[in-house]
Amino acid sequence: MWISSFEIASRRHDARCGTPRRRHARIAVQVPLPGRRFAQLPVPDGTGVARERRVLTPRVERLERVECVDRQDTFGDRIPNRVFESGQMLRLAPEARHRVCVPDQDDQLEGLLALWLGRLDPHSFPLKAWRRLLNRTLVTAGARLTEYRDPAGLVELRRAIADRLGPTRGIKIEPEQVIMVAGCQEGLNLTARLLLREGDTVAIENPAYQGAAYLYESYHTRLVPVRVDDCGLSVDDLPKEGAALLYITPSHQYPMGYTLTLERRLRLLDWAWRTGTYVVEDDYDSDFRYRDSPVAALMGLDSHDCVIYIGTFSKSLGPGLRLGYLVVPRHLAGPARAVKTLLDNGRPWLEQAVLSSFIATGGYTNHLRRIRQSYAERREHLMECLRRHFGETKVSGAECGMHIAWHLPQDLPRAPVLQTMAAERDVGIYTLRSGAVCDFGGCAYSERTILLGFSSLNERQIRRGVEGIAAAVDASHCCGGNV
Ligand SMILES: Cc1ncc(COP(=O)(O)O)c(C=O)c1O
Repeated sequence: MWISSFEIASRRHDARCGTPRRRHARIAVQVPLPGRRFAQLPVPDGTGVARERRVLTPRVERLERVECVDRQDTFGDRIPNRVFESGQMLRLAPEARHRVCVPDQDDQLEGLLALWLGRLDPHSFPLKAWRRLLNRTLVTAGARLTEYRDPAGLVELRRAIADRLGPTRGIKIEPEQVIMVAGCQEGLNLTARLLLREGDTVAIENPAYQGAAYLYESYHTRLVPVRVDDCGLSVDDLPKEGAALLYITPSHQYPMGYTLTLERRLRLLDWAWRTGTYVVEDDYDSDFRYRDSPVAALMGLDSHDCVIYIGTFSKSLGPGLRLGYLVVPRHLAGPARAVKTLLDNGRPWLEQAVLSSFIATGGYTNHLRRIRQSYAERREHLMECLRRHFGETKVSGAECGMHIAWHLPQDLPRAPVLQTMAAERDVGIYTLRSGAVCDFGGCAYSERTILLGFSSLNERQIRRGVEGIAAAVDASHCCGGNV
C-alpha cells in the first residue's frame, strides 16, 4: 500500500504514436499499513512446511548446510511456521520469509571440495598494495572520516569508473551518473525502489538469478519469466505490452552463461523503447572474458536512455568489500541519489578512497589482468578434466565469467542425483536449484545442468573434484545404479 510518493517526470517518448510520453520514475516511500502486512502473512496451522521426506546421510546433510546439495525449498517457500507462533514474528515483512544463503562456517567445510560458484581464490586479493594504500589514505584522511560525504559516492572513484566503462564496455557517461552501492544486490534494490510499485510487471530471465527474482517478488510485483536459449534471452518472448522493468544478465546469462547476441541486443532495446520499459543490465562478471571480443554493453548501445547498468567489484576484488556501482541515464541521476540517501547515506568513505587510489595508480588494471589469466587457466583445466573423464563435453558460458554450465549427456544421471552422488564423495557441485537460481517452471535446463565454478580452486583441486564426480559415476554404473 503506497501512502506517500512523489514523481519525477523523465524524458521518454512513445515511438508508436510519436507523441512525447511522460515516463515516471517514482521515488516512493513505502509505508505498509500494519493491518495489511499482517493479513499477508500465512496463518500458522501448526503443520509446518510440507517437505518431501528424504533420508540424508551425515555427509549429504553437511553439504546441504553449505548449499552444495539441493534443499527441497522452492521459489516462494516459507520459513517454518513455528516461528510465526511468536507475536513479534507476525510483524515480519513477507520477503523475510525467504531462505537466505548464509556464508558457510569453516567447521562445516573440513574435507569438502566444492566447485563454488562466483567465489574468488582468497590468495588473489592484492593485500600488499591494499595495505599500503589504506595506510596512506588513513594518514591523509583528515575530516573526511568524520563527516557525511556525498551519498552517491566518492567523486574521484565515480570518475575513475566512468573513465573505465568507455573503453571496456562502450558506455560513455558522466561521473554524476554513477552511484556507488553495496554490490549488485543493492543496485538491484535501489532501482526497484526507484522504478517499481505494487502490482507492476517485471520481465525476468528464466532461469534467473535468485537474488533478483526474490527481490522483485518482495516489491509485490508480477514476475513474467522469459525463456533463455543459446543466444541469450528470447526477445520474441518478451511481453508485447512491455513491463515496468526487465532484468537481464546479457554478458554471461546467470546461470546458463549464454551471451546475448548483438542482433538480439538491438531488438531488445527497440522493444524497451517502444514499450517504455526500463532495462536493468546486471553485468556481474564481464571483467572475465576469455574468448571473442566483448559485445558492447546494452547501456553502451542504448540511445534512448532506457538502460540502467549495474557493475560490481565482488568478482574482481571480493564480495567482502561490498562495493559496486549503478550507472543510470542522466534523467535518473538525481532521483537515484535521493533514494540512496534514504537507504543509507552512502558507502563508507575509506574503502572507496583506497579503491579509487588503487585504480588511479594502475594497480587495479594489473590485478585484473593477473586474475583473468589465472581464471582462464583454471577454466581450461576444468574443461580438460571433464573431457578426460567424460569425453566430448557440452558446456555453456565458458567464454566468460567464473563458472560453466555443464549440460549432462544422457548416459549420466539427472543433475540432482549426480549432485548427491558427488556429495557422498565430499565433492560439492551445483544444480540450478542449489546454485542461487530461480527456475519458474517449464525451464528446459533444470534437470540436466550442473554448474561448476573454477575461480576459487587451484588445478590440483579442480582435478580432484572432477575425479570425484567420475568415480561416483563409475561406482553407480558398476552397481547398475540409478541414471
Ligand atoms: C547474477 C548475479 N548478480 C548479482 C550478484 C551479486 O553480486 P554482489 O556481491 O555484487 O551483490 C551475483 C552474485 O554472485 C550474481 O551471480
